Amino acid sequence: MRRMLALFCLISLAAPLTDAWRPSQPRLHFQHSELVRSGRLMSLSVPAGDLNSLLPGEDGRHLYIGMKDHLLSTSLDDITQTPRKIYWPASPDRIQNCIMAGKSLQTDCANFLRVLELYNQTHLYACGTGAFNPRCAFIPTNLFLRAEEQRLEYEDTESGKGKCPYDPHQRTATAMIDGELYAGISSDFLSHDTAFIRSLGERHAIRTEQYDSTWLQGAEFVHVAAMSESDNEEDDKVYVFFTERAQEAEGAAGKVLYSRVARVCKNDIGGQRSLVHKWSTFQKARIVCSVPGPDGIQTHFDKLRE
Ligand SMILES: *[C@@H]1O[C@H](CO)[C@@H](O)[C@H](O)[C@H]1NC(C)=O
Repeated sequence: MRRMLALFCLISLAAPLTDAWRPSQPRLHFQHSELVRSGRLMSLSVPAGDLNSLLPGEDGRHLYIGMKDHLLSTSLDDITQTPRKIYWPASPDRIQNCIMAGKSLQTDCANFLRVLELYNQTHLYACGTGAFNPRCAFIPTNLFLRAEEQRLEYEDTESGKGKCPYDPHQRTATAMIDGELYAGISSDFLSHDTAFIRSLGERHAIRTEQYDSTWLQGAEFVHVAAMSESDNEEDDKVYVFFTERAQEAEGAAGKVLYSRVARVCKNDIGGQRSLVHKWSTFQKARIVCSVPGPDGIQTHFDKLRE
């Protein structure tokens, strides 16, 4: 059900819900209907059902939420406060083109915000699908403090190619590491080219080889994480977790899904000859999650979720 919207809920538990509350026995379970009645539930629809469009603020008091045509900032101290909004639509030309390409106005041809990262103390970095024409922008967080709703114009944005998918329904994972964006995305219009790309910052962008199934094939990205290996920064690594169609699976090449983790060196600047602007340190491994069964049969969990 890739095209369904996922409902995302915020629950405020700052105060007891009913008189039956006793401080010595905190309640862990709440009925949905109870929360609705109490007015302590905020429901928002987030595109494509993954959590890449949610970003806790550095102070832990805000949650930024990327939605369709809107970027929200909610107060985690009091979710009954109306969220602050920035309106960021796709350009009308792009919406027209998108519709003419046979896509849906409701579920495709809008600016679905899919990448949301803290950039520095004053700015977020965000990208949206821009009606199949991805765009990104540095967003000053103090824009949310203005009383009137802010609007981000096309001129305030930059190309989001290689940073954000065209299709809002494609799973995406990103991380901002030392001012560079590491993005696991499908990077073309038809979502045939799944890629792991580093961009932004001073260095030239580098990526996985395009349309080469030995690097990645139909990858659905789940998470990107940086990790140091020693005191020496030169050893720092970046890991990306995903599910893909496995080439090496016997008898059914390209049809069987495997959970994976891939790794690159943070200091990778690309290789030489055929590897110019490509990772020279990319390695991947299968993640085996399985439960052994009777007669040596194993149940494998090959679709990584979170
Ligand atoms: C954060 O980054 C933005 C965009 O590059 C820049 O304009 C701003 O000055 C930076 N802020 C700080 C505190 O470095």
